[in-house]
Amino acid sequence: MAITLREVAIDNFNDVVRLQPAPGQESFIAPNVLSIAQSKVAPNFVPLAIHNHGTVVGFLMFGQDIETRRWHIVRLMIGEQYQRRGYAREALKQLIAQLAQHPECEEVYISYMPDNVAAERLYESLGFRKTGEFDDAGEVVMRLELPKLGI
Ligand SMILES: CC(C)(COP(=O)(O)OP(=O)(O)OC[C@H]1O[C@@H](n2cnc3c(N)ncnc32)[C@H](O)[C@@H]1OP(=O)(O)O)[C@@H](O)C(=O)NCCC(=O)NCCS
Repeated sequence: MAITLREVAIDNFNDVVRLQPAPGQESFIAPNVLSIAQSKVAPNFVPLAIHNHGTVVGFLMFGQDIETRRWHIVRLMIGEQYQRRGYAREALKQLIAQLAQHPECEEVYISYMPDNVAAERLYESLGFRKTGEFDDAGEVVMRLELPKLGI
């Protein structure tokens, strides 16, 4: 496995928008093309392609909510044909490591539909814990405190 997170650009855009979740997962995630469009009107959200070697295998988006100042991972998906190989866990680990280096980011939030067992297990395994909140879409909200190095 050689997972890297890369800017969505002209060279990987088509591959990112072609990725589809597995049948039955459609209600868990917005289409990638919609998320990329949202990032154009809400530039505080950063869309990233998940590559394994040269192949685009998934997509994520993160950013800081302008009103609450909370950092959120707002999208995460791995294409149906690439799931269950550890790619999502590795991509999240890399994103969390990046966020931990950001001086203003001390914690990160993520959420999932209550029946999304895969997401719940994945997030718990990385240390996210339920806050007891549900967001406007009825998703279960989780939070991860980021380790801070230094003074
Ligand atoms: C959730 C999702 C991103 C996981 O991606 P993935 O690359 O297949 O996940 P990984 O291979 O890294 O698995 C990590 C852990 O997630 C859990 N998991 C992943 N797929 C699972 C499934 N189908 N059923 C149960 N648990 C699952 C397991 O705990 C797994 O750990 P294990 O392999 O040690 O048991 C993927 O299923 C997906 O894209 N789903 C559709 C979109 C979605 O639901 N996104 C999340 C929105 S909140």
